[in-house]
Amino acid sequence: MSLHSKNIAVLISGGGTNLQSIIDNKAKINGDIKIVISNKKSAYGLKRAENANIKTRYIVDNDELLKVLIDENIDLVVLAGYLKILPENIIDKFNNKIINIHPSLIPSFCGDGFYGLKVHEAAIKKGVKYSGATTHFVNNLTDDGPIINQDIVKVEENDTAESLQKKILEKEHSLLVNSIIDFCEDRLYVKDNRVFKRC
Ligand code: GRF
Repeated sequence: MSLHSKNIAVLISGGGTNLQSIIDNKAKINGDIKIVISNKKSAYGLKRAENANIKTRYIVDNDELLKVLIDENIDLVVLAGYLKILPENIIDKFNNKIINIHPSLIPSFCGDGFYGLKVHEAAIKKGVKYSGATTHFVNNLTDDGPIINQDIVKVEENDTAESLQKKILEKEHSLLVNSIIDFCEDRLYVKDNRVFKRC
């Protein structure tokens, strides 16, 4: 069954290694990265998009962001290290069509204030034996929407927050791409606030 190729917008605020992973694996995705948007002019991810001949925009105003997502006829919004809270009107319009990646096993080490190295510092301090990454649909709370998938990383005795961050980031890249692939094949569905995958 040939599915309509999904129009994808990727939102970033930083280096964009997750974005790069999506770009590098676009042949596996039944979708097209129409635009990369950042709330930070200096985000290196914008350069990655330009190098891949993908349209980029620097946007801080939420009304402008919504207009662009509508004008580009976006089917899927991917938050790949986007450190700004989306407004309710965007989340409501794109219900279960916004995927976020978080560098922990939600519900651990997530929510307000848990971003970047802070996540991994908390995991090391707590002494967890496993951490990892989570993809989830975005709702109106931080890192709280229905979980799509997770992948784990063993925390070793000699791990630091930095080494753990590096190990998890590698897992994030494949986890996010696979979640996008599943979404674009219309395999994902939400029941009782849980995400399931059609075989
Ligand atoms: C990743 O760790 C992601 O989980 C978090 O922000 C970081 C973005 O890294 N939301 P990058 O910009 O994709 O390299």
